[in-house]
Amino acid sequence: MHSPTQLQEIIENAIPKIVYPAHPADLYEPIRYIMSLGGKRIRPVMVLMATELFTDEINKALDVALAIETFHNFTLVHDDIMDNAPLRRGKQTVHEKWGSNNAILSGDVMMVESNKHLSKVDVSVLKPVLDTFNATAQGVCEGQQLDMEFETRDNVAIAEYLEMIRLKTAVLLGGAMKLGAIVGGADDKNAELLYQFGENLGVAFQLQDDILDVYGDPEKFGKQVGGDIISNKKTFLHLTAKELLNPEELSILLENRENAEMKVKAVTQLYNNYQVKELANLEMEKYLAKAYQALDGITVSENRKVYFRQLVKQIMEREN
Ligand code: IPE
Ligand code: IPE
Ligand code: MG
Ligand code: MG
Ligand code: MG
Repeated sequence: MHSPTQLQEIIENAIPKIVYPAHPADLYEPIRYIMSLGGKRIRPVMVLMATELFTDEINKALDVALAIETFHNFTLVHDDIMDNAPLRRGKQTVHEKWGSNNAILSGDVMMVESNKHLSKVDVSVLKPVLDTFNATAQGVCEGQQLDMEFETRDNVAIAEYLEMIRLKTAVLLGGAMKLGAIVGGADDKNAELLYQFGENLGVAFQLQDDILDVYGDPEKFGKQVGGDIISNKKTFLHLTAKELLNPEELSILLENRENAEMKVKAVTQLYNNYQVKELANLEMEKYLAKAYQALDGITVSENRKVYFRQLVKQIMEREN
């Protein structure tokens, strides 16, 4: 059995070995760039961990793990265009470095590269792997669409937000788990429970991402702190505050200030006043409990699940 850190190392060693064509350089260089910037590699680790629940032959899942990480990085490249984000993993975003048109096209090719990794999987599981991957990828796009639509809507309900993050983020963590399970030879019931584990963990993961976006340490976060406030994202923090604020405070939350830095400061102060971060943490706990419930239902011996609990802990204590 491998620890999450050992699996992360396996992924980290495999990524530089992926060969992309040399030309046109501006199409492929951004892919090498974003893929080499590190990141936590949570999703490919999840693929390998899920496979290892059922078989010791984790190498069978390496291509699927790389497909998932490539797809994830593709979504980041496009997400950073959509969110107008200057920083990713502590470095310039792809569209800042190469321009948006280039970032769009490199992202598109990354989707193709994901499929190329996937098609290397054993033919006996190819169809369920493709079906699961496609359902996952489609969910992410639906979630991203809702996330953008919510920026200009001021009547977003918390339930709508939770559904939006389920799609944009959680289905990919669920999908990673399910794909690993399929490759490992799990039965349908266990594969579905792993999906549920990943999806619920994914909702908690995005809630944490929203918290870090406001409260992260700029030295460690790797992204622009306050980016969600600047883009008027309807995060759990925003929506929860909105329910608690008086009319005067509400205008601070909703108004578009000329000065982005001042807006971030003012809104963060409101969040602090109403302990919105603590409320978000409580919501996160609910989803973690659901994730653990799914994990408990998986019919493999408990000692094989130990690293799952370790992974959850690592994810929830992260600083970026
Ligand atoms: C960022 O994902 C996108 C979200 C779903 C919040 P990660 O936080 O896993 O990003 P990296 O891959 O570690 O940089
Ligand atoms: C993440 O949403 C969803 C996807 C990238 C698909 P965010 O926009 O919150 O992700 P970060 O914070 O930029 O990583
Ligand atoms: Mg986004
Ligand atoms: Mg973003
Ligand atoms: Mg975010």
